[in-house]
Amino acid sequence: MTISKNVAIISELAHLSSRVDIWASCVNKIDARTLLELGVWRGEFAESLLKACPAIERFYLIDPWRNLDTWNKPWNVTDETFRLVYEEALNRTRIGGDRCVSLRGTTMEVIDEIPDGSLDFAYVDGDHTLRGISIDLIKAYPKVRPGGILGGDDYTPTIWQHSEEFEPSLVCPFAAYFAESQNAPLIILPFSQFAILKPLEGEMSTFQVIDTTGTYGSRNLISQVKRRESQT
Ligand SMILES: C[S@@+](CC[C@H](N)C(=O)[O-])C[C@H]1O[C@@H](n2cnc3c(N)ncnc32)[C@H](O)[C@@H]1O
Repeated sequence: MTISKNVAIISELAHLSSRVDIWASCVNKIDARTLLELGVWRGEFAESLLKACPAIERFYLIDPWRNLDTWNKPWNVTDETFRLVYEEALNRTRIGGDRCVSLRGTTMEVIDEIPDGSLDFAYVDGDHTLRGISIDLIKAYPKVRPGGILGGDDYTPTIWQHSEEFEPSLVCPFAAYFAESQNAPLIILPFSQFAILKPLEGEMSTFQVIDTTGTYGSRNLISQVKRRESQT
């Protein structure tokens, strides 16, 4: 699928009424068969896609399902809670049978078990700190085939997604800067979703940000940092 066709397909998803509807419709429209969800938690998103997208042939699920010393976010629960979360994820994705490949580990530990250029669609929803989103996009992009889609969650207009003891979320603007480095368009969708459209090999493609919500302003951080400083 060429970039302009993918831009049209993805932009049209903006009218849908939930994050799951957006990505299930995307997977069906681009006929994605090999998928990755990076950051699975209880498996609710994966379960929804498995139910809504019958053409899925392989679905990689990456998550360490363990407490991480270096991850300062509210989802970083105890090992005991993660054990239960993992069991729930396995139960929810059982409907996928052997189409589901669970890779238990951090992105750095396990993503190279996925062959380069093999994914039609990858969904990044793991560690949203600057460190996390940098690693996830840099490591996941080569796994997506030319013409495929790298989507993700938590492209929040503010970096202050959680209370002040937690690291800020830097999916926005990092994903846009990453897309720029690849000459790839980035589409902002409702519900804080983003999609990077990987060009075909040899295809002329230029970086642009298409904001289907019309609500995102400048990607500079200075105003957000200043606002936070004035509150403390
Ligand atoms: C927001 S939750 C994912 C929610 C899930 N995508 C959904 O829609 O239901 C974030 C997940 O990212 C995982 N995670 C955190 N750091 C990670 C890392 N370095 N590599 C892979 N996954 C990570 C956590 O264990 C957690 O389950």
